[in-house]
Amino acid sequence: MSWSTLPPGETDADTIALGVFEGEPAPAAAPPQAAELLASGEAKPARKALALAHADGKRWLLVGLGKRDKLDSETVRVAAAVVCDRAKELSAKRLCWQVPTADAAFAGALVEGTLLADYSFETFKSSKDEQGKAPKRLEALIVSGEGDLAGAVEQARVVTEAVNEGRDLQNRPANDLTPTALGEHAKRLAGEVEHLSVEVEGRKGILSRSMGAFAAVAQGTDEEPALITMRYRPPNASGPALGIVGKAVTFDSGGISLKPGAKMAEMKFDMSGGAAAISAIAAIARIGLPIEIVGVIGATENLPSGRSVKPGDIVTAANGKTIEVNNTDAEGRLVLADCLCHAVSLGAEQVVDLATLTGAVIIALGSTYAGLICNDDDLAARVTAAGERTGEIVWRLPLHEEYDELVKGKYGDLDNAPEGRKAGTITGATFLSNFVGETPWAHLDIAGSAWDLGRAYVGKGASGYGVRLLVDLARAYCV
Ligand code: BES
Ligand code: MN
Ligand code: ZN
Repeated sequence: MSWSTLPPGETDADTIALGVFEGEPAPAAAPPQAAELLASGEAKPARKALALAHADGKRWLLVGLGKRDKLDSETVRVAAAVVCDRAKELSAKRLCWQVPTADAAFAGALVEGTLLADYSFETFKSSKDEQGKAPKRLEALIVSGEGDLAGAVEQARVVTEAVNEGRDLQNRPANDLTPTALGEHAKRLAGEVEHLSVEVEGRKGILSRSMGAFAAVAQGTDEEPALITMRYRPPNASGPALGIVGKAVTFDSGGISLKPGAKMAEMKFDMSGGAAAISAIAAIARIGLPIEIVGVIGATENLPSGRSVKPGDIVTAANGKTIEVNNTDAEGRLVLADCLCHAVSLGAEQVVDLATLTGAVIIALGSTYAGLICNDDDLAARVTAAGERTGEIVWRLPLHEEYDELVKGKYGDLDNAPEGRKAGTITGATFLSNFVGETPWAHLDIAGSAWDLGRAYVGKGASGYGVRLLVDLARAYCV
């Protein structure tokens, strides 16, 4: 992927994408046919509207962007995705996009929308070239514009490739992406990126750290669990150490509280929070942000067996709190409880966790917003603003003393699955709030957004939700 100050028509692209705005003439870089297409109504300034012209031996795609003064990054991402899909249908190989207005955020959004839309997961397809089908990937994306947008384009490339790496992790089936394999992936990253170190501990390590809640989930499966600790410590770090914690249940059957069979296969995606955490930390390190990161990812399967944790069992988390496991399918909060304690004890001063924690968040917010629950208004504002910039929008739900009552245990300190299913997403977060002490902490429930997001640039399958948000959040601490 490259950046060019050449006018689009002078690049070596075979296909050129230009934005069209409401109340404006055809873009200056366009061939004369563009004005005719606009006049006839074949090309339109409405968002997602596409028209095709052929001139100078190239294809020209005119895409509507709405009103210029209303243009935002999300509109640009969607337009880029629409263009990418059409360009590939037309067998385009080298696509050039002209940045609609000289703005680093829009240049980045073009890269994001294109590379996210260009993604496909083919690892397990045995016939690699199905004849007569559209090409799987573009060969090149050239972003053309005025001013110095090269840095923004390059950073967006690195970050978006990390999102797609995260999507690969999510899409890999649970028999391939085991907790051990996830740990190995994280270790490989540490070998590649400066100032990044990774430690992976198994069952013994988890038990020796008194992580009784995490260990309880992991005890039902033969697969070795993985406590993945990632530390990024650049020499020029300033500001608070940011903790990034992720739920990585590589398969969630529900355990003894077994889930129904329909759609259970989707529970390979229950590691999406952990995948986003790992990929975001790698991206932060690759672009060299001057901020310290403490990453903790809890990876395990949740399976029923003769050794599984049972409803009613009482386990003790690393901070000494006892938990009644009243539903073994509320396993994410058990894993995260110990991971949050660990992040705080390693020095994280602000903590964000990502987890596919509750089905209830899908009922409340669908796939449009991720649920945000936060014990600190400044951190909540930062996470919300990061989500607005990246299009990974979040909606804050409350904490309240009355919810604390709901998660109190009958025989132990806490109940992992309060009866009555009241405020399911909030009670999940309220449970977690017991493991961060006074540390500012934000919980993102991404059960509705981690896959099948249904946006133009990420439709079906893994979305990589949260990677760009986390990088943006970290970047905002650095300015
Ligand atoms: N991984 C699930 C949540 C989930 C459900 C994510 C559907 C994506 C789609 C989680 O471990 C779970 O099973 N949560 C339970 C909690 C309940 C038992 C308190 C739920 O939401 O039903
Ligand atoms: Mn579950
Ligand atoms: Zn789960």
